[in-house]
Amino acid sequence: MGDYVIETENLTKQYGVQKSVANLNIHVKGGRIYGLLGRNGAGKTTTMKMLLNLTKPTTGEIKIFGEDIRNNEKKILPRIGSLIESPGFYPNLTGTENLRIFSELRGIPRRNAIKDALDLVGLPYKDKKLFSQYSLGMKQRLAIALAVMHDPELLILDEPINGLDPIGISEVRSFIRELCDAKGKTILISSHILSEISLLADDIGIIDHGVLLEEESLSELEQKNSKYIHFGISDTAQASRILESKFKSKNFKVVDDHNILLYDINLPVTEINRSFVQVGLEISEVHLCEDTLEDYFKKVTRGEGIA
Ligand SMILES: Nc1ncnc2c1ncn2[C@@H]1O[C@H](COP(=O)(O)OP(=O)(O)O)[C@@H](O)[C@H]1O
Ligand SMILES: [Mg+2]
Repeated sequence: MGDYVIETENLTKQYGVQKSVANLNIHVKGGRIYGLLGRNGAGKTTTMKMLLNLTKPTTGEIKIFGEDIRNNEKKILPRIGSLIESPGFYPNLTGTENLRIFSELRGIPRRNAIKDALDLVGLPYKDKKLFSQYSLGMKQRLAIALAVMHDPELLILDEPINGLDPIGISEVRSFIRELCDAKGKTILISSHILSEISLLADDIGIIDHGVLLEEESLSELEQKNSKYIHFGISDTAQASRILESKFKSKNFKVVDDHNILLYDINLPVTEINRSFVQVGLEISEVHLCEDTLEDYFKKVTRGEGIA
């Protein structure tokens, strides 16, 4: 296993006959944001619980900071901040009072830890408002404040933008980015919303039915949003022979008998057209297309899509 902050090998969790997570190999690099993207029920929470030793894997290995979590829990866990399920905040205490209780329980010595954490998530320090009067967005912010309060190197946040309004979403996104860029934290977040992950993550793992379908950097993924020329044509077998022999291209895909996608977009389209017509092929359409990230996700999730 290599040099990653989080690395799993064939991580599997089976409940009864169902594998919620199956042979998962994820690789989270230091100082980057890794987005685990998958629909509801894909296995994101189960994966994160195993990373935090909240639930035991059926089989497989987990290394965090290069060490096996099973034998090094006491050493590793204090270096992680997490938000998995809502923490048990006391409804009749304020946000600040709640954080103070947790800070005492955990023996956090740092002065200003509570104020800094509240500042970071945009909640007022020593505000009189009780937790029970908080909006969903404020509760979510307080939970994130709790996760970062002890200044951990690694953050594991399960769907941190759930329940936030659009302004809240963009604020949370920017402070997560800041934690990574300005403070060098490594962050693993999950989401079922493609646009969220693509706006925030540096690396993306796509999980579906417990299986990791893709793991790539966002920039690699964006390159896959390829441009291509779509030919609607009477005989794709003949067209592909012409592309190969006359235009020396293998970079195309025959979709079916009448549709062919040419990824070599710098080839002379007019000339190709002419060559097709010369051998009697009928062309019903020719146009330049571009796949969006969403199209790509639909492809890897076999058309079911995400979000
Ligand atoms: N404690 C459990 N017992 C049985 N099945 C579970 C348990 N926890 C999760 N699952 C199942 O595992 C699958 C993955 O769930 P989960 O990890 O919560 O997905 P996600 O977080 O991506 O929505 C789901 O089918 C869910 O029903
Ligand atoms: Mg979940």
